[in-house]
Amino acid sequence: MTISPFTPSRLAARMAPVLLPFLCALAAGAQIDVTGYWAFRVKDGGVSYMQFEQSGESVASVPQTGRPPGRDGSLAGTLHDGKLHLAGTGPRQTVYDGVVENPNRIAVTMQSAGRDPIKGALERVTREEAFPARLPLPELRDVPDNGLARTPPMGWNSWNKFADVFDDATVRQMADAMVASGMSQAGYTYIVVDEGWTSGRDAQGNIIGNGEFPDMKALADYVHSKGLKIGIYSSPGPQSCSGKMGGGYQGSYGHEEQDARSFAAWGFDYLKYDWCSAGEIYGRSREEHQGAYQKMGEALLKTGRPMVYSMCQYGVADVWKWGAKTGGNLWRTTIDIADRWESIDRIGFAQLDIAGYVQPGHWNDPDMLEVGNGGMTAEEYRTHMSLWCLLSAPLMAGNDLRTMSEETKSILMNPDLIAIDQDRDPKPVARLAQQGASEVLVRPLSGNAFAVGLFNRGNQPAEIGFRWDALKFSTGLYGFRRLQAQDLWKHAPVEVSGDSYTATVPGHGVVLLRVSIAGGRGF
Ligand code: GLA
Repeated sequence: MTISPFTPSRLAARMAPVLLPFLCALAAGAQIDVTGYWAFRVKDGGVSYMQFEQSGESVASVPQTGRPPGRDGSLAGTLHDGKLHLAGTGPRQTVYDGVVENPNRIAVTMQSAGRDPIKGALERVTREEAFPARLPLPELRDVPDNGLARTPPMGWNSWNKFADVFDDATVRQMADAMVASGMSQAGYTYIVVDEGWTSGRDAQGNIIGNGEFPDMKALADYVHSKGLKIGIYSSPGPQSCSGKMGGGYQGSYGHEEQDARSFAAWGFDYLKYDWCSAGEIYGRSREEHQGAYQKMGEALLKTGRPMVYSMCQYGVADVWKWGAKTGGNLWRTTIDIADRWESIDRIGFAQLDIAGYVQPGHWNDPDMLEVGNGGMTAEEYRTHMSLWCLLSAPLMAGNDLRTMSEETKSILMNPDLIAIDQDRDPKPVARLAQQGASEVLVRPLSGNAFAVGLFNRGNQPAEIGFRWDALKFSTGLYGFRRLQAQDLWKHAPVEVSGDSYTATVPGHGVVLLRVSIAGGRGF
């Protein structure tokens, strides 16, 4: 081997490809033309894509036909002397200030109204990466039942409390707390990592964790070592919904089978699959939604690993009528819940009309629990939990399990409520009566019993009641037999006498009874 002398001219020749664009950029400043496609990336924060058009020193984003405008609305501004300044027209009033590093990269600080500035970079990408073309969907068929989730899934999900600001250590601590608090004993099993764990794909197209989630397999192993199961999150679209800076994280679009294989290889037991940017690729029809969800449903089955399939497309196209066909075990029936009374009141009572669509293995999902997140009173959280259990809803806690008050624990772990939710023979809850803000809901339970919820949706205390003979016991009238009733929040028996029962129910509150035949099964 000969070692060539390292003359200055050789060095210059070697470095030229690296340095030239950089030097040109510095010298050229505003002469760089940013027309084309760009990705705005923030470390561990997701990505958003844009198309720019430049004319002289003016730069503007190009609206994408058929796609909703980005969260920042359109962007417009200038590129002057190597400095980019763009302002968004959307409600976030986002401003991007950048310094051109080279023709393909601009270091950017992004500032949205009322938020801390975020550092990231605009990087030039291909059109295909920025706005991928539509791929064909499979022909519709019924995906075989995976046999999972015979009762509504119970667990914890990161989103309601942490959004996408969390990491591997947080998730491990939640697993620890789920065991230490007694929640796992009470039936909570799945620890679900929602949006925020991925940084994109490696050179082979495999989806990978980001700096906050360096080793998804090790995380799954840890959660399993606690006797729990673990869930992950992705989207049928190219990106998920909302990263730290407004863009989303990597979705499974075009990589459905590959991602299902990765999730299985890491040992995941549950996938929440969130529509998000799929709306920029597919239409709103039932066929489009069904096809996109079927694609992943089939991919999950093909891995051979049992994984609960949680569909999240907010109830579009009456998903409760066809969600099971895609292999879905649960499907969101609503837009996102919030930690406010108005949210759970609106979502909870809107579920009554579709309560008949639940069956073992396939559940309506009115979204995850907010109990313990601080935005509602204990009374309101008891109403939230009561409604969700009467509805046979999945019980995915959404609070910080490490710092639960005794009151929060008593709501999330009320065994009588959980028993209603987890009844192996789920009968739909129905409205027995409604007057003003008062509602009486009834649900038949296994063991010849009924759950009766007296709900006060108003602000002031109200007298709410029902007639005992409105409960149609399968063994016939109770006249010659006696009924017994238990108040499931007071944990005390209720006297059964006269024709009816009336209670004073506090504003936004509930009285929940379990009524059965004295000496009968179930008590
Ligand atoms: C959607 C879903 C939420 C959560 C977020 C993450 O809004 O409905 O449950 O997963 O996306 O961005």
